[in-house]
Amino acid sequence: MSQSIVLPKFLEVGEGAINRVGDIAIQLGCKRVMIVSDRVMESLGQVDHIREIISQAGVEVDVFTDTMPEPTETSVLPAVTQAIAGHYDGIVALGGGSVIDSAKAIALLAQYRGRIRDYSVPNIVTSPIMPLIAVPTTAGTGSEVTRMTIITDESNDEKLLCMGPGLIPSAAIIDFALTMTAPTRITADTGIDALTHAIEAYVSGKSGLFTDQQALLAMKLIAPNLREAVNNPQNKQAKEQMMLGATLAGVAFSNASVALVHGMSRPIGAHFHVPHGMSNAMLLPTVTEYSIPAAKEKYADCARAMGIADASMSDDGAVALLLDELKQINKDLSVPSMSEFGIDKQAFWSSLEIMSEQALASGSPNNNPRIPDKESIIELYKVAW
Ligand SMILES: [Fe+2]
Repeated sequence: MSQSIVLPKFLEVGEGAINRVGDIAIQLGCKRVMIVSDRVMESLGQVDHIREIISQAGVEVDVFTDTMPEPTETSVLPAVTQAIAGHYDGIVALGGGSVIDSAKAIALLAQYRGRIRDYSVPNIVTSPIMPLIAVPTTAGTGSEVTRMTIITDESNDEKLLCMGPGLIPSAAIIDFALTMTAPTRITADTGIDALTHAIEAYVSGKSGLFTDQQALLAMKLIAPNLREAVNNPQNKQAKEQMMLGATLAGVAFSNASVALVHGMSRPIGAHFHVPHGMSNAMLLPTVTEYSIPAAKEKYADCARAMGIADASMSDDGAVALLLDELKQINKDLSVPSMSEFGIDKQAFWSSLEIMSEQALASGSPNNNPRIPDKESIIELYKVAW
């Protein structure tokens, strides 16, 4: 079976790539763009910096910095109103995955109107959104190269997944220098998210030779650099490899899908406000252990790509090392357990029913090598707790 690959038109990769953002806006035919960012980027002076680069290229530019982490529909609506009123012909998203996800939703609703739920799965966004230049400031979500966005519906705390080729950014600026000032916790959480993308894309039922190569290379770049990027944030080489690894993992999962970890992780994030990468980390060892019997060779490949098992080792030996490593990463990066994070056990237990329904509704569990039913997902939540 063939794989349909969707990629941005332009990728600008390497230190100083941000200086090309104005030229790329012009190449995309933009005359008037809106920067979508957040207050942190604004306070760091990054919004002014990118605004200056865009202005100098001769493109008109306005700014919206009121995006929220783990964006909700309500949080993006003011920007949608601004985008419609301002007649912008492009959006530049500067920030982490939440900013880029917000920008995709803003571009979508400004252009086609309606509500987020009108576009969420099982619907597919096929019509292209207005040109979006994604400038990630974290090495993690891969949102700069993915055809999806996740926006929470506050009415029932459901993370709505919108996907389709129409949501792919037109350009991605992959400049690791922008990640040098990221806080430690964010570097850790987004880094584990990227590793999860690579592993899930590789074991996904929708994987293929093209995405397998991106995923394996992403694991090779991320695994040996993850702890170093967190513990020694001035290490440029570690940051550069993490950044590229995260983008390649994004290419892999955007085209091969994620699987059960992400399916179960989104409801934890929506109900208990756990950052996305952290809720993945809380689940990754448990879900990997559950899934290994259905795809032992592939998980063994992951261990080898991550550099924790060598080619001569048996698959059984390699997957055992993989499980140890995933647990050790969580310890080394101080990933809290769900109770340490402050989730109330009773509240968690009483949400198991709805969370497993929402996990299944996202479709991601169906891509898992071992496909669970609702009861199995509830069991896995309990084990991960
Ligand atoms: Fe993710």
